[in-house]
Amino acid sequence: MQSLETITNWALRRGFVFPSSEIYDGFAAVYDMGPLGVELQNAIKRLWWREMVDTRPNIVGLDAQILMHPKVWDASGHTEAFTDPLVDCGACKKRFRADHLYEDATDKNADDMDMEQLGAALKEAGVKCPNCGKDAMGEPRTFNLLVGAEMGVIEGEKETVWLRGETAQGIYVNALRTAEAMRLQPPFGIAQIGKAFRNEITPRNFLFRVREFEQMEMQFFVRDEKMADEQYAFWRERRMQWLREVIGLSEENTRYHEHSPEERAHYATAAEDVQFQFPFGWKELEGIHNRGDWDLSRHSEYSGNKQTFFDQEANEHYIPRIVETSGGVGRLTLAVMSEALDEETLEGGETRLVARFKPAIAPVQVAVLPLSKKDPITEKSMEVFEGLLKGTSLRVQFDETQSIGKRYRRQDEIGTPFCVTIDFDSLEDDAVTVRDRDTMQQERVKIEELAAYLSAKFE
Ligand code: GAP
Repeated sequence: MQSLETITNWALRRGFVFPSSEIYDGFAAVYDMGPLGVELQNAIKRLWWREMVDTRPNIVGLDAQILMHPKVWDASGHTEAFTDPLVDCGACKKRFRADHLYEDATDKNADDMDMEQLGAALKEAGVKCPNCGKDAMGEPRTFNLLVGAEMGVIEGEKETVWLRGETAQGIYVNALRTAEAMRLQPPFGIAQIGKAFRNEITPRNFLFRVREFEQMEMQFFVRDEKMADEQYAFWRERRMQWLREVIGLSEENTRYHEHSPEERAHYATAAEDVQFQFPFGWKELEGIHNRGDWDLSRHSEYSGNKQTFFDQEANEHYIPRIVETSGGVGRLTLAVMSEALDEETLEGGETRLVARFKPAIAPVQVAVLPLSKKDPITEKSMEVFEGLLKGTSLRVQFDETQSIGKRYRRQDEIGTPFCVTIDFDSLEDDAVTVRDRDTMQQERVKIEELAAYLSAKFE
């Protein structure tokens, strides 16, 4: 796997990811998606939607908003318990994540420690300030992660609202409405892709931990604990399978990590992560959580509106249990980029950087490369390009600048699975050369068969 630095530089240079507000020296822990990054992310999001909604009769989609009634976050427990352990340096006044400091210093996990234990562990490990190097770290304390905003038109009467910390809450407060409108009864699911915000105090590792990110979450509502256990087991398997088979993460770089009771979020009765081996180590990629009846019980209590379903057979109202799958789009994008980017040594000792994206998610799937910038080659190439735009559903790029060798290298670097070259022979034989990114093998294909030939490669 390439280093994080190589991946970051490549992503910037090739138009995948840009630091936010770069001309103002950037804005900490916020990144913009460049033209290729947005294609990659859209492809991932479409495949997720297909997997979680389109192919599942009992799961529907939703698009709840970022802004919600502030009481939602009291009910959800986020205003009280959505916290990270922080520690200040008494000398330089810089603030750090206490658990990260401990983990970096000792290579041990701090997940199971409470605040007191963490303070003692930091002292025992002799952790000094990473900024000024002094032995002046204070006691760790908790810090709320919700990002606030002011709303209202009259100065002095503005209300503090929270930018949502997870998309899940938008699903919970719409659960009864959704079920009624779509004639659903548990077991059923609601899925959403949307932005979430967190005041991460020590954001780091590029897209891994940022302050504005997108989540892909699905909440599955069931009748009782037994069904929740079954769904939990099902989604745990299924999410790993999707990440490996559809998105292309390798077995070698993915594994499960079960949360201990201390590690679990305040709402979870059971939780397991799919972890990915990033260039900076094994870390959470996606979570599968059994949230019990915590969320809808709390919303019933805080809103005064009972969030119950009716069981005809048992003749009783009940609060369903919820199993959740929750992953970050940006974090998965970073995993995909880390998995794909490869430096290969060719015969003769030359190296090439190649992004081995699964063809289904490659930002550019086919590049059309005219050998010359002059007619009649350009004209013929435009015909081929337009034929592919109309005759396939692939993402096709027309690329005519620089030498053919440089263009192949550039397309390899952005992970384009197939390059189609139009040369002088094409004018005679109405055929083109198709080059495979991974094998670099070339094949001559008739132009009239090209759309079907390429489409078949993506099935
Ligand atoms: N609704 C449950 C929930 O939000 P979480 O474990 O806090 O659970 C779920 O977050 C996923 O969201 C994580 O596995 C990760 O992929 C993504 N995520 C969370 N915080 C993030 C951050 N600061 N930057 C990028 N992705 C983040």
